[in-house]
Amino acid sequence: MISKYLKSIQLFAVTSLLMLASCGDKKTDFSNREISFNENWQFYLSNDGNDTIAANTQWKNINVPHDWSIELPFDENSPAGIGGGALNGGLGWYKKIFKTAEKDSTKVISIVFDGVYMNSDVWVNGHHLGNHPNGYIGFEYNLTPYLNYGEKENEILVKVNNAKQPNSRWYSGSGIYRNVWLKTTDKASVTQWGTYITTPTVSDNEAIINIETTIKNEYPEAKEFTVITTIFKENNRIASISKKINIAAKGKETIIGEAYITSPVLWSIKKPEMYTAVTQVSLNNTIVDEYKTPFGIRTFAFDLEKGFLLNGKQVKIKGVCLHHDLGPLGSAINTRAIERQLEIMKEMGVNGIRTSHNPPAPELLDLCDKMGFIVMDEAYDMWAQSKTPYDYSNYWDKWHVKDLEDQILRDRNHPSVFMWSIGNEIPEQWNEKGAEIARELSAIVKRMDATRPVTAAMNPPIIVNSNEVSIQFQNTADTPNALAASGALDIIGYNYAHQTYEKHPVNFPKVPFIATETTSALATRGYYDTKSDTVKMWPKRWDIPFYEGNPGNTVSAYDQVQAPWGSTHEATWKIIKKHDYLSGMYIWTGFDYIGEPTPYQWPSISSYFGIVDLAGFPKDVYYMYQSEWTDKTVLHILPHWNWKEGQTIDVWAYYNNADEVELYLNGKSLGKRSKQNDDLHVMWRVPFQAGTIKAVSRKDGKTVLEKEVKTADKPAALQLTADRKDIKADGNDLSFITVDITDNKGTFAATANNEIHFSIEGNGKIVGVCSGDPVSHESYKGSSHTALNGKCLVIVQAGKQAGTIKLTASADGLQKAIIEIKTSSEKE
Ligand code: GAL
Repeated sequence: MISKYLKSIQLFAVTSLLMLASCGDKKTDFSNREISFNENWQFYLSNDGNDTIAANTQWKNINVPHDWSIELPFDENSPAGIGGGALNGGLGWYKKIFKTAEKDSTKVISIVFDGVYMNSDVWVNGHHLGNHPNGYIGFEYNLTPYLNYGEKENEILVKVNNAKQPNSRWYSGSGIYRNVWLKTTDKASVTQWGTYITTPTVSDNEAIINIETTIKNEYPEAKEFTVITTIFKENNRIASISKKINIAAKGKETIIGEAYITSPVLWSIKKPEMYTAVTQVSLNNTIVDEYKTPFGIRTFAFDLEKGFLLNGKQVKIKGVCLHHDLGPLGSAINTRAIERQLEIMKEMGVNGIRTSHNPPAPELLDLCDKMGFIVMDEAYDMWAQSKTPYDYSNYWDKWHVKDLEDQILRDRNHPSVFMWSIGNEIPEQWNEKGAEIARELSAIVKRMDATRPVTAAMNPPIIVNSNEVSIQFQNTADTPNALAASGALDIIGYNYAHQTYEKHPVNFPKVPFIATETTSALATRGYYDTKSDTVKMWPKRWDIPFYEGNPGNTVSAYDQVQAPWGSTHEATWKIIKKHDYLSGMYIWTGFDYIGEPTPYQWPSISSYFGIVDLAGFPKDVYYMYQSEWTDKTVLHILPHWNWKEGQTIDVWAYYNNADEVELYLNGKSLGKRSKQNDDLHVMWRVPFQAGTIKAVSRKDGKTVLEKEVKTADKPAALQLTADRKDIKADGNDLSFITVDITDNKGTFAATANNEIHFSIEGNGKIVGVCSGDPVSHESYKGSSHTALNGKCLVIVQAGKQAGTIKLTASADGLQKAIIEIKTSSEKE
């Protein structure tokens, strides 16, 4: 596809471009160029996998984004396996009936799917439009030749065949799980993802903005168009370029121009400043298309000595890997739910996101642009060789070039994207085939976007000498990593192997470093093994013998349990922080996700790797990062204080901006502690006594912060706290409401596991419930849920009418709680 673009590129002189968009072309409203096509679909899940639709099919009314798997019961025998969250896939049908106005009969109308998992076929009015196997990249079909106009209806039919399982190592979700758009344009328009904006030269005084625009002409004759691109900062017009272009009938042309911006405002993590380029295509003095491209201006480099430099300043990448599910919402995307995840990460000090192991929802990148994250945008979890029987490797030969090209085209204008990863732990990494494919993929990326480096997440890029490192990697053969040696990578990406990082300058003297994936430590939120001395490895995975863990598959939340291929949270960060040349890391993972539990055994169905649990509640180690990664003053103590008399409990504190912490038990000092050497926490071994433990952090003898944890009496009441009490009445917006169980004095009951029932009144509905417990098999879509260690989450979605939603939480024997959420139509 791009080769066609390149052939038709017309370069034109920069000087002739610099003119203000002054032509008096008639203004049209283009707000309907792409409208949401999410509402009023019908859905049918074919239980027998039969791929024909019976006449008596019972269709269910739904809106998309929609994930049918999240509504199914957890099934120990699910073909998806516990890797896939023990939730079945299946074969689903979607149907949408719609009318097209007569006045649009001269237009080009297409349907855009941001992502359908997986293997979709689409028909309009009985005409097959295409098949699309990849579940993570969007696609567009032109409907125009097959549409009825006026009163006669149209039917879109979508078959989603996610029946062959397993096809993923994690929970994928099933169905039209991302947004759908109806696009209506003139016969001449900017093509899908048809602009490419780069900033080849940036200084304090000036930035050169290079703008490539591809325009198609579907008129039956050649036409001359005027293309004006105007750059805006907020509502201020900053610069404009213009060009006349002749495009053949049914043809397409790419034009390139340069604009100059004086005193550019740079995009950074702290101030993610954005610009917008508005491209207008005019025909006979009428603007026929308008296309907006948000972009940012920044410079960056991965340096062999200084690590990552953003706008000339050193920035350590403090990143997390994220899978795409949104906990109890499944994989059905919701912008507010993604934003909340990113807010929780920001608050912890995270500045980087890795979209493991696939192209993300477009909304995630929009949010990363706006919120300031350093994104590693990843393409594949496997290439031609499979990891699960029915995965993308089955489609590799036919699709990998197009899917990668589409990802780059789609994402290359996002200032938050800094690296392309062509793959994660690719099985071919140990043979020459891997090197060959790596070179092919890297060349594709470079052809589409030469402004960002290419990496791959390798495990590990260099052989770990087993005498030095007593851990087992998947590859024990004495072979070098073919990807690392291929010359295809601009940055060497390490998955784990933190023991080798300090040798990077020796092992790879010419290629910069990134830890694409680290840590894989494990924890159940709020659960603690009292003897916390030794690091525990919990290695139940595909190929490693099982270690008997705790009953109920709980995992201690002291930062001392790790997968054998990873490390504790502290261990990897201690190394990364030490050396400038170690540009940074992406921790596995920011949030727990559905599927891939470790312990990899029923009844566990969701992961333990998250720094934050599936409901969005931080585990304790969140505060270790916050103390290291933010300017915020932190003091956090763990564990809870509900133990049996006589037990010996390790009390840990994470703190910063202080010289020492003193711990008190019921008013009596247990001593002061300060972090020694490179320690990241302090610890006291305390014989338990009910009452209060209190930590006081001090600097130069003055109190900085105080934190208390009290023994709770038996559970007596519920408390509700909403992340937002005023949400938009748009049928989409969400309020995330935390339920805390307390005793009769309001003390948090940290070990309470009551079942909580929810009821709702007003114009809203409950769309998710979750405790963050990886062994819970209660539905995330129910209206009751059992709390985990004192907490539970309920997610409420606004309807379309402004008003008040009243949510009541109750539990047997506990005082109920009520919260009111306002829904407003005028709110932005
Ligand atoms: C890595 C892999 C991730 C996840 C993780 C769990 O090897 O890249 O997808 O499986 O292990 O520790």
